[in-house]
Amino acid sequence: MEPLIEAAGLSKTYDYTLFENISLKIKEKESIAVMGRSGSGKTTLLHILSSLLKPDSGNVKILGLDIYKLKEIDIEKVRRYKLGIIFQSHYLFKGMTARENIEAATLLSGTKINEDILKILEIEHVIDKKVGDLSGGQQQRVSIARVLSKKPQIIFADEPTGNLDRETAFLVMNALNNYINNNNAALLVVTHDDEIAQKAQKIYHLNNKKLELR
Ligand SMILES: Nc1ncnc2c1ncn2[C@@H]1O[C@H](COP(=O)(O)OP(=O)(O)O)[C@@H](O)[C@H]1O
Ligand SMILES: [Mg+2]
Repeated sequence: MEPLIEAAGLSKTYDYTLFENISLKIKEKESIAVMGRSGSGKTTLLHILSSLLKPDSGNVKILGLDIYKLKEIDIEKVRRYKLGIIFQSHYLFKGMTARENIEAATLLSGTKINEDILKILEIEHVIDKKVGDLSGGQQQRVSIARVLSKKPQIIFADEPTGNLDRETAFLVMNALNNYINNNNAALLVVTHDDEIAQKAQKIYHLNNKKLELR
């Protein structure tokens, strides 16, 4: 089976070289955690793997497509229909309800809100409240429900449990793992939390400019 993500020879330098010659494959139903110190380049690597940032060298194949060789309009199609990107800080519209926020995304992807996911994330009872009236942790879970409701094949999550208590953090990781198993999808999660990383099948460390399997 062809990997969903196949990256080879990735390098990126800003003020200093973050990483060099990184390669990574992610298969269907696979979950991968990337750990590393603050500033090691985890977010940058996630952006490169998820079609948002071209590397200095190397290539990223997403579902067999050499993504940075595509035209921007075709990259956007892949991003809209195939990828789910959960950012470190979520971008919800505070004046709209949680449901309206999710619908704004499903309208674009042509999918429906998944009520089961709302239940698993324990936000079904707040779904018709304004986002501004929800707690930080609830808002975070709404942003995750929004991404999952798009039915992505590959999920990228940047510290998705950063603002959550332990119990809620595990609930979110279970929801993500359930989702990838039920939808033949894959997950790449960036975290500095060892217990959260343990919920993934493979744990990598970004260290000394290399990605090392632990
Ligand atoms: N767009 C950018 N321009 C310049 N420097 C950047 C940019 N994005 C990230 N960096 C730098 O790259 C380093 C790694 O950032 P980041 O990938 O966010 O690390 P991490 O997520 O591991 O904390 C930091 O020193 C950061 O300042
Ligand atoms: Mg980061």
